[in-house]
Amino acid sequence: MAATTKPVTALVVNGVERKVEVDPTTPLLWVLREQLELTGTKFGCGIAQCGACTVRVDGRAIRSCITPVSSLEGKQIQTVEGLAPAPETRHALQRAWIEHQVPQCGYCQSGQLMSAAALLDANPDPSDEDIDRAMDGNICRCGMYGRIKAAIKSAARANAADGPPAAGAGAEESSHG
Ligand code: FES
Ligand code: FES
Repeated sequence: MAATTKPVTALVVNGVERKVEVDPTTPLLWVLREQLELTGTKFGCGIAQCGACTVRVDGRAIRSCITPVSSLEGKQIQTVEGLAPAPETRHALQRAWIEHQVPQCGYCQSGQLMSAAALLDANPDPSDEDIDRAMDGNICRCGMYGRIKAAIKSAARANAADGPPAAGAGAEESSHG
C-alpha cells in the first residue's frame, strides 16, 4: 500500500528556511504550531476575528488562521519567537510590555505584539487614532487596551531615542531595539 505524499512547501520563518509536508490549503497557524513547534502563535477564533494568531508576512500583520501555507512560499514570515533582533535581547515592544505590565492572562499577547511591531515599522510615531486603527482587530478579553496603547507609545519613544532606523528599513527588521 503506497503512502500518500503531501507536497513540500518551503517557508522562511524567522529568517530560517523550513520545508514542510502538508496539504497546501493548511492554514499557516497549524503549520507553525504543529509542524514547526512555534507555539507562541495562538488559536482563538479560527475565522480572522480575534487576532490571537497574528504573525507578520513581509512585514505586514496577517491572520495565520486563515492564510494557506501555499500562499507564503518565498515570503518572510515572522512569529513572536523571532521578534527580538537577537536571542539575548528584547524588541523595544517587549521591553515596553514588561514596563507597562501589559499581559494579564497573556493569551492574546503574541498577536498584539506582532500587530504593534507592524504598526511601528510602518509608522514610527503613531497617534492614538493610528494605534486604535492598527490594533482594532486584536481582541483582549482581559481588557488591557489602555496598557497596550501606553506600551506602544513607550516603544515608539524608545526607538526614537535610539536614533532613526537604517535607510530602507521600512517593513524590514531594524538592527536595533
Ligand atoms: S485565531 Fe486567527 S483571528 Fe482568531
Ligand atoms: S491579556 Fe488576557 S486576553 Fe489579553
